[in-house]
Amino acid sequence: MRNKLFVAAVTVTALLAVAGMAWADRTVPTSLSDQSAACVTCHEAEMAGLVKEWRHSRHYGADVGCYECHAADPKDADAFEHNGYSIAVIVSPKDCAKCHPGESQQFQASHHADAGAILGSLDNMLGEVVEGPMAAVNGCKQCHGSVVKVNPDKTLDPTTWPNSGMGRINPDGSKGSCAACHSRHSFDAALARQPENCGKCHLGPDHPQKEIYEESKHGIAYYANIDRMNLQSPSWVVGIDYSAAPTCATCHMSATKELPLTHDVGDRISWTLRPPVSQKVDAAAIKAGKKVKSWEARRGDMKKVCANCHTTNYVENFYKQYDGLVDLYNVKFAEPARNIYTKLRSSGLLTADVDFDEEIEWTYYYLWHHEGRRARMGAAMFAPDYTQWHGMFEVAERFYMEFIPQVRELVEKAKTAGGAKAAAAEEVEKVVNEALAMESHAWFTGKEPAEIKAARKKAAEDFRKRYAP
Ligand code: HEC
Ligand code: HEC
Ligand code: HEC
Ligand code: HEC
Ligand code: HEC
Ligand code: HEC
Ligand code: HEC
Ligand code: HEC
Repeated sequence: MRNKLFVAAVTVTALLAVAGMAWADRTVPTSLSDQSAACVTCHEAEMAGLVKEWRHSRHYGADVGCYECHAADPKDADAFEHNGYSIAVIVSPKDCAKCHPGESQQFQASHHADAGAILGSLDNMLGEVVEGPMAAVNGCKQCHGSVVKVNPDKTLDPTTWPNSGMGRINPDGSKGSCAACHSRHSFDAALARQPENCGKCHLGPDHPQKEIYEESKHGIAYYANIDRMNLQSPSWVVGIDYSAAPTCATCHMSATKELPLTHDVGDRISWTLRPPVSQKVDAAAIKAGKKVKSWEARRGDMKKVCANCHTTNYVENFYKQYDGLVDLYNVKFAEPARNIYTKLRSSGLLTADVDFDEEIEWTYYYLWHHEGRRARMGAAMFAPDYTQWHGMFEVAERFYMEFIPQVRELVEKAKTAGGAKAAAAEEVEKVVNEALAMESHAWFTGKEPAEIKAARKKAAEDFRKRYAP
């Protein structure tokens, strides 16, 4: 019986290869292991959709079956007996690494693999405590990854699974979930290349990369030309296999004529725009005495991606504009706000051991975590609306109209209280005055030189004339 099937399979394979569509649905396994053949027979009847997707995958064509992925050593924490086989539900990056060691190593070395390490962060206090634990289960951890717990009966704890968060901690101790980008059971590279794939996590008020991409010229070109993106091609090299537009994967991961595909998404970025004050992406590692790829080398690689479609000058000038915006945000708003905020907490004008119990803590959080990130990320990826109206505009309003007035209110209150509080208030006030002494805040403090004011008045008059009926 299996022999006949084998012959049939070879014939079908040959026909499909001739037709140039080797990965279309096929019904007959070629030389699949006996174990996997048994899984398929049963599961075909039980969950046809799952098996059909597997048949559609490249794994199917390469005889990588259910058992090749789900087999588990009986000693594994999550292994269980299943119809005579020792298997596990979770197929971790360690399991994929048996056949894909390169991709797995790059992934393990990336920030993505550490995405589950959010315990202790300010955001975690927000999710777990201010909001509540089930908010973190259904929210944070579906993007960042849970710590998967195995129940005594070997089932998986429902507060920790299902979960395909990027930095999931698996029962075998490995980090991550390849299925975060490679949806099962098709494990289709084409799906992973699309911006929608990254957009499960990279969107929303605090990191709107998906929306930024959609607004950018690159996103516009992509959506207008999806049929020319050659997404199904086994080889996917920009400038060779496609040219209409870059996707997230193109810039952050995929191969170019010069660069190999990388599974470390931080490999080509030079800043980290996540913290209150942006820093170069290698700064933390250097401080910790670790040797990592320098930010200059990373930026150099990103430029090689751009160079497939743009000139050197174009790209160099873009980086000047981008660095300029990051510096503006850092120097004018982020550093002053951080200095004031740090002083407020250390001086005892705020509770130092609890976050988010005072209004100004929310104000500061909005300033850097939402608006400040949006402005910087918009500039990084060519979205003027995110840079301006969802970004710097809101940063400025938050800083001048909420943050500074709220600090002053706290200072006044402490001065009225007298004693040690009043002395602390004086200290805080000094830091506020230092911050606002910067030339760029002179318009706000009323210290702008007369000639600058006069020039602006003249420009305003000219503008009104231009629009006069
Ligand atoms: C005799 C039929 C049969 C065989 C053989 C079989 N399965 Fe299953 N399997 C099932 C059924 C039925 C379920 C439960 C479906 C449900 O709960 O909805 C299941 C569930 C599973 C689950 C999920 C378990 C869980 O706790 O969520 C995995 C993973 C799985 N099978 C993999 C395999 C693999 C791999 C093989 C081959 C080594 C295999 N199965 C062989 C019938 C079978
Ligand atoms: C390339 C590896 C791979 C192959 C091949 C594979 N699986 Fe899976 N399977 C996975 C991954 C990854 C998951 C996701 C589990 C997780 O990490 O949460 C999964 C999940 C599952 C689940 C539970 C998820 C659910 O939605 O209920 C079942 C059942 C399952 N696989 C059965 C099968 C069967 C049957 C086959 C063969 C037809 C198969 N798998 C082939 C990797 C694989
Ligand atoms: C037993 C070996 C084996 C295991 C285990 C395995 N793979 Fe594969 N995988 C392969 C082979 C072989 C190919 C190439 C098939 C081809 O080129 O036709 C492949 C191809 C792929 C591709 C490319 C698909 C495409 O559309 O181009 C992806 C993505 C992938 N595997 C992801 C995974 C992930 C994720 C896991 C773990 C959940 C995994 N693989 C586990 C052997 C394996
Ligand atoms: C929609 C998916 C999603 C949700 C929900 C989510 N995050 Fe994130 N988070 C991300 C992404 C994506 C980044 C990285 C953004 C970037 O690099 O621009 C991130 C960044 C972070 C960082 C910064 C990490 C660093 O290295 O600086 C922390 C901490 C964090 N998130 C914690 C949380 C917590 C806690 C929650 C729940 C209260 C949460 N996140 C909810 C997707 C999410
Ligand atoms: C951040 C999303 C993401 C994650 C997470 C991810 N991949 Fe990928 N992977 C991709 C993209 C995008 C491609 C296609 C790139 C291309 O062809 O340009 C790809 C391609 C692949 C390929 C095909 C490589 C080739 O040369 O054709 C394999 C194999 C693979 N991934 C394995 C894995 C494994 C194993 C893991 C987990 C350790 C993993 N991936 C995690 C996004 C991801
Ligand atoms: C399942 C959620 C998820 C998906 C899908 C996802 N990411 Fe991420 N990504 C994250 C989280 C969370 C972080 C922040 C990790 C941290 O700082 O601990 C992050 C960080 C990053 C970073 C910053 C890396 C660094 O070294 O600072 C880049 C760039 C990135 N992702 C690109 C991508 C791209 C491109 C894709 C799609 C191909 C993608 N991500 C898909 C969740 C995701
Ligand atoms: C045309 C190339 C290009 C495309 C397309 C692109 N990016 Fe970026 N991305 C960049 C550049 C350039 C930077 C800034 C790099 C630096 O700081 O040097 C960046 C920065 C990032 C960061 C870092 C933010 C941080 O916290 O530091 C993340 C995350 C990210 N991109 C994700 C994505 C996602 C998700 C998509 C698709 C929705 C995408 N990118 C599309 C080029 C691109
Ligand atoms: C696959 C080709 C491709 C790649 C790779 C690529 N771009 Fe583009 N880029 C385009 C196209 C197409 C446009 C739209 C041109 C137009 O509308 O006239 C564009 C537009 C731009 C614009 C103009 C934005 C605007 O609103 O006018 C900038 C700036 C830019 N790209 C920078 C970059 C940078 C920096 C990189 C690398 C990080 C990069 N591009 C990578 C194809 C590409």
